[in-house]
Amino acid sequence: MGAALLTGCGSQQLLSIGDLSSAYNREMFWMSVWAIAFSIVIFIGVSYALFYTVRKFREDRNDAEPEQFHGNNRLETILVVVPVLIVMLLSVLTVRTMARLNPTPQNAVKVDVLGKQFWWNFGYPAAPAAAGGNVTNGNELVIPTRSPVALTITSGDVIHAFWAPNLGGQRDATPGTHKTWQIDTDRAGAYQGNCNVLCGASHANMRFKVIALDPEQYNTFLQAAQAYRAPEPAPGSAEARGYTLFMQGNPATGALACAACHRVQGTPAAGAAGPDLSFFGTRRTLGAGMWEGERAQEMLHGWIKHSPALKPGSLMPAYDGQEYRLNGKVQKAGLLTDAEIDDIAAYLRSLRLPEEANYWRDVP
Ligand code: CUA
Repeated sequence: MGAALLTGCGSQQLLSIGDLSSAYNREMFWMSVWAIAFSIVIFIGVSYALFYTVRKFREDRNDAEPEQFHGNNRLETILVVVPVLIVMLLSVLTVRTMARLNPTPQNAVKVDVLGKQFWWNFGYPAAPAAAGGNVTNGNELVIPTRSPVALTITSGDVIHAFWAPNLGGQRDATPGTHKTWQIDTDRAGAYQGNCNVLCGASHANMRFKVIALDPEQYNTFLQAAQAYRAPEPAPGSAEARGYTLFMQGNPATGALACAACHRVQGTPAAGAAGPDLSFFGTRRTLGAGMWEGERAQEMLHGWIKHSPALKPGSLMPAYDGQEYRLNGKVQKAGLLTDAEIDDIAAYLRSLRLPEEANYWRDVP
């Protein structure tokens, strides 16, 4: 019941620390229940003592000076001992809860989390002999249900924070450190995540999705992702033209290659300055969660053309010939025509996991 109250009708996309499908949140919930219960008992006790004192020792009509006394050892001892006991009790509860949280068991699914201005990369272990190398996905994290997921979190620039409240707590992403954190859920579905440390102009647009799949479905996803090689476009198609532009840019107009900053598994594109685009066509979100679904499709052309115009502080330079400045530096990537941008969009949409590994398939 508490869960229903706190999550508001059980909508899966809400940011809710009261989502009790996560073991972490259940621990925190019961810890809070105990702390609040103690507070209520203490409040009632203090209120009773206050009203009793006011009533019993209220000034009577006569002007006689009240009885004078210095201290009451028994009362003072009680006043020290009781609060100490309360603090000790709350400390024991807190330490016990802390010890139970984030034990990172051996069987936990491991994911590397990288935060950068203003997007995320999620890295999975590669299969031992995987031809495609590491598996990485930008801005969409896929996890199994009913299993702890051990995150190793870092940042490539400033301090960010990984925060998916329905799945349990938050952890800073600090450059130069690798912090561990654990999330979990019993319920399949999509969950909202957000950067939770002010990190620059588009902090609010540094979102991500966590898609929790049943364990069998998760294994299908992971195996397909590990074996994935980006599909080769048919010669002469829009995708093929897009592929060439993606890999080489357009030397005639000085347009930079997307591959300089982005990686696509199983192709020469191995850039690490921007989010991994290996499964771009499977993804439902664009611009680190700025747009979803249909809207993301509509925005893709404009996004490639001039992302700094759409997302303040975006480090992706613009291909529209306009000047966008970031910290005094002009963000220009050379010129691409609208037709060329459409070709790149067509190539990006073709980067799809096999349908059985499409992690959005069963999410409404
Ligand atoms: Cu990254 Cu706020």
